[in-house]
Amino acid sequence: MPVCRDRCDACIPSQIWQAERPPYNSSVKIILGLESSCDETAVAILRGGQLLASEIASQIAEHEKFGGVVPELASRNHLVYAPRLLERATRAAKIDLAKVDAFAATSGPGLASSLMIGASIAKGLAIGFGKPYLAINHLEAHLLSPFFLEDRSPDPSRQTTVPAVAGRIRQAERPPAMTGDTPVFQRLQSEIKPSISLIVSGGHTMSVQVTGLADYRLIGRTVDDAAGEAFDKVAKMLGLGYPGGPEIEKHARRGNATRFDLPRSMLDSENFSFSGLKTAVRYLLPKLQGDFLADLCASFQQAIVDVLVRKTIAAAKRYDVDLITVSGGVSCNEELRRQLRDACDGEGFKFKSAEPWLCTDNAAMIAFAASLRLEAGFESKVAEEIDPNLALA
Ligand code: KG4
Ligand code: ZN
Repeated sequence: MPVCRDRCDACIPSQIWQAERPPYNSSVKIILGLESSCDETAVAILRGGQLLASEIASQIAEHEKFGGVVPELASRNHLVYAPRLLERATRAAKIDLAKVDAFAATSGPGLASSLMIGASIAKGLAIGFGKPYLAINHLEAHLLSPFFLEDRSPDPSRQTTVPAVAGRIRQAERPPAMTGDTPVFQRLQSEIKPSISLIVSGGHTMSVQVTGLADYRLIGRTVDDAAGEAFDKVAKMLGLGYPGGPEIEKHARRGNATRFDLPRSMLDSENFSFSGLKTAVRYLLPKLQGDFLADLCASFQQAIVDVLVRKTIAAAKRYDVDLITVSGGVSCNEELRRQLRDACDGEGFKFKSAEPWLCTDNAAMIAFAASLRLEAGFESKVAEEIDPNLALA
């Protein structure tokens, strides 16, 4: 048979499978999510609103010696870790793969060769078990993660029937995925209310107007470095480890945030810029002597927090919403969470942030986004390709 170079629908075998698969059953309960967009491999299983397993294998240590993520190495590692995590997650959740109702994976943005691993596994499982496949936008998963609430109600049935899991392979110095009760999200789409969502990660910094699930409008984004990238680059200049955010935060705790007057760029714009701040630190460093590390970390962190808080509050006022959410790795930062919450309280906005373990890359947020999408009637074709530059809106 000649090979079709246009990859038109008629020539893609998966279309045949999709046509033959039984119709989607709206009582879908168990969702398996995979995340492999960068240097973290993760698998999570969600049943209804309950997270049964969340496994993460970090590759940070392997990439650290190269000074950044090496895509070839990352994808090879995903191939090694993903099957192990699948095994661990199903064992922890006491779920047979055949019982899973839908398979989801990050389809972008991210490293192409890494995205392919998670997406191919999820597609293969969906095809093999005849279940729906959901391609999830990594940024949407971050954006929705503040809605994944922990139900702290003392429901004994929850705590006895589902064991809490804390599965991480070679995951150094980061909080375990779950340490106590199994997290449960309360209810769903009705909670994806009109809001301003600040997404701050290693690769992205954006402010988004959210009208409802899958209804997003980009308000502003960074024109150069992402906030997390600025933390990582400045940490490197200071001889601190990777990822830089937690390192800087640690030193900043005992520092004076007013000692160094660092720039807050583009305050009148809806976009963000952090490369001037990074350059200011670079020029300042050779002039410093003595014990300056804690004060510099605190001043740098405060410059970022000031910009993020100010622009987010301004956007919430401009777009007339009463809810602000924050997500992404940088939203682990306690000062950012505290100052944004205080600003929201002061200005009369409601505030939601993800639990810290849900802020950095994980598969629970992928499964959660998939569950919301599935419930709203979305489903992806297995022919849907990964997109390293996938946009949110
Ligand atoms: O969301 P994430 O895990 O990966 C991406 O999608 O990029 O974010 C990783 C970023 C890194 O740049 C890391 O330095 C930053 O989040 N980060 C923090 C903190 N924890 C992680 N930045 C500031 N303070 C933290 N506590
Ligand atoms: Zn991320």
